[in-house]
Amino acid sequence: MDIAFKVNGEARQVGVPQTASLLEVLRNHLGLMGTRYGCGLEQCGCCMVLVDGEPAYACTREVGTVAGRNVTTIEGLGSQAKPHPLQQAFLDEQAGQCGYCLSGILISAKALLDRTPNPTRAEVVAALDKHLCRCGAHQRILRAVERAAVKLRNAPVGARRAT
Ligand code: FES
Ligand code: FES
Repeated sequence: MDIAFKVNGEARQVGVPQTASLLEVLRNHLGLMGTRYGCGLEQCGCCMVLVDGEPAYACTREVGTVAGRNVTTIEGLGSQAKPHPLQQAFLDEQAGQCGYCLSGILISAKALLDRTPNPTRAEVVAALDKHLCRCGAHQRILRAVERAAVKLRNAPVGARRAT
């Protein structure tokens, strides 16, 4: 059965079972390889995407539940040529080592800054609590989110949101 939804602002349609995981559909059917598979059990956060602006684990999310909704993946944040301020801040703070965890962390950070433009350190920690980073880049990741928050607060209104 075909399931229709939007991914990064584009209408997409896939012929898969309703119970297929959103992660499998994004990676294997839509070619969006930026969203990662880690545990498959909602325990690492590297598969995080936004569904109607809210963070969601793509590994356990059945694709049938996103029919008619808007999904944002890491590819929807920015590009190498035009990075989202969060992505630029992670580069500026050298916040990634292997980078495996970063797609999911950036997605949760975007959701946080969309609803809380001036988060406290505790709010950033809480928003990223569901993410594991085995490289131990935690302090730099926190600094990067705070750096992006400052940049976004000072940006013109139209430049604050991606997709
Ligand atoms: S792969 Fe989804 S939480 Fe780990
Ligand atoms: S940068 Fe390697 S797991 Fe986070």
